[in-house]
Amino acid sequence: MNRIYTDTLIVGSGLSGLSTALSVAEKGGQVILVTKESIDTSNSASAQGGIASVVDFSTDSFEKHIKDTITAGCYLNKPEVVKFFVENGPESINHFKNLGCRFSKNGYGHLDLGKEGGHTARRVVHAGDMTGYELIRSLKQAVLKHPGISILEHHTAVDLISTSKFMLSDKNRIIGAYILDPHGNILTVVSQTVLLATGGCGKVYLYTSNPLVTSGDGVAIGFRAGVPTVNMEMIQFHPTILYHEKATSVLISEALRGEGGVLVTKNGAEFMEQYHHQGSLAPRDIVARAIDHELKKSGDDCVFLDMTKLKKEFLQTRFPNLYKICLKAGIDMSTDPIPVVPAAHYMCGGLKSTPSGKTVIPGLFVSGEIAHTGLHGANRLASNSLLEATVMSKYVAKEIMTYFKEKKEQIPDPPLWSEDTVTNRDENVIVKQNWDEIRRFMWNYVGIVRSNKRLDRALARLELIRHEISEYYWNFKISKDLLELRNITLVAEIIIKSAIKRKESRGLHFNIDHPSSFDTATDTEIFPEEIL
Ligand code: SIN
Repeated sequence: MNRIYTDTLIVGSGLSGLSTALSVAEKGGQVILVTKESIDTSNSASAQGGIASVVDFSTDSFEKHIKDTITAGCYLNKPEVVKFFVENGPESINHFKNLGCRFSKNGYGHLDLGKEGGHTARRVVHAGDMTGYELIRSLKQAVLKHPGISILEHHTAVDLISTSKFMLSDKNRIIGAYILDPHGNILTVVSQTVLLATGGCGKVYLYTSNPLVTSGDGVAIGFRAGVPTVNMEMIQFHPTILYHEKATSVLISEALRGEGGVLVTKNGAEFMEQYHHQGSLAPRDIVARAIDHELKKSGDDCVFLDMTKLKKEFLQTRFPNLYKICLKAGIDMSTDPIPVVPAAHYMCGGLKSTPSGKTVIPGLFVSGEIAHTGLHGANRLASNSLLEATVMSKYVAKEIMTYFKEKKEQIPDPPLWSEDTVTNRDENVIVKQNWDEIRRFMWNYVGIVRSNKRLDRALARLELIRHEISEYYWNFKISKDLLELRNITLVAEIIIKSAIKRKESRGLHFNIDHPSSFDTATDTEIFPEEIL
């Protein structure tokens, strides 16, 4: 296999990957974008809620949005970073309007603004209940037309290539990545810069709202290359995922509660008022924990989201996609309460990064959910994820082009991937067995409510599995499943070790052995030397 050369290699085809690819290409850079499924499969594409941004300055302000973000984030956010993202929101909305994104409008022709948990004003810009799909659609049109961007679908990143790993220079920098193609060959992509934009890690947990591509690949790849993680214990559980045997991973958007939906038990009793003054519209960590508590108390399988006080015509217009999905599952939301449970939804921590995507390793950038910038703190405010991805992409692209111009230098040719000593795999069952086990104990021991004992148990199980997988990885030919399993295992270990390090409860991390919060909020960092 030959080497392939480019200016920028982008891993991931969600909002961050596509948006940065377009900006870099528009500035004259050559981009190769790899994605392990088709370009249409990403967590961004399934986002329902919208982009949180101050639009109506008569009822809202930047100060209010900043305050809501920090309150939801339980003061673990970096205030200057929150200000940066919030103040860049309106420009991002305009950028997407100019790309042809069809946001929903109200009867006066202005942007229709939704409301979600933790927001004190209407500020969620949306496209019905398929905002992610519409953002990706508008971007994809431009990306596919651009001659500076080549897309490799069904290609999976294996690991980054650094100069220090192969002793090619005394100054460490990233110079590309090994990529598994759909035929099982490993390509050597040599590039001046690499952007990891692979999204989150919902697949580490048994129940998740995320599509099954979310195996935390970028976090594992960046960490193996030397980037520390921050606050990886802060895994957000979305309170309302459809509870139905045939429709798994269907998110019931928080926007439904924003329009008046109320959480009730199977007897129709409202319960959220006992937990928070914002009731069903409290921040997500509080609602998920309240549901968990109610389910443990009653022994029921789910609670219900009651939309029946809203008019059928309104529900069909505002939530056309969810209305149809529920109907297909036998639930008419205008007459039947929707059965819901919490599930893993979003990784609030990530690889340590500046708001413009710089990591500690020259040549390596991150964007979107994979990046820990300091925006979300201990619990992300609803619809601030699309805000982060859209704002960040523009600045990451600028950063990449600056690096590219300043540092453009001859890259030494890295070695090709060698498979001389490996053989074909004999037992695929090992991959499946370990995968199921990790996802199950992460759900049971490192879920919504944690304890010291549960975390220790999870770590002990994981260390055993890690050795087995590592042996398997080095001795047999690699496949996409094996790569994902290797990544899930590492990310699970980082989450557990971060959770063990935090000796308090804050936001999404609730440990019954340390139930109160410290006066001062501090980040939990995990360095590669602590695990690898
Ligand atoms: C939702 O629509 O409830 C999800 C939006 C988000 O995760 O911010």
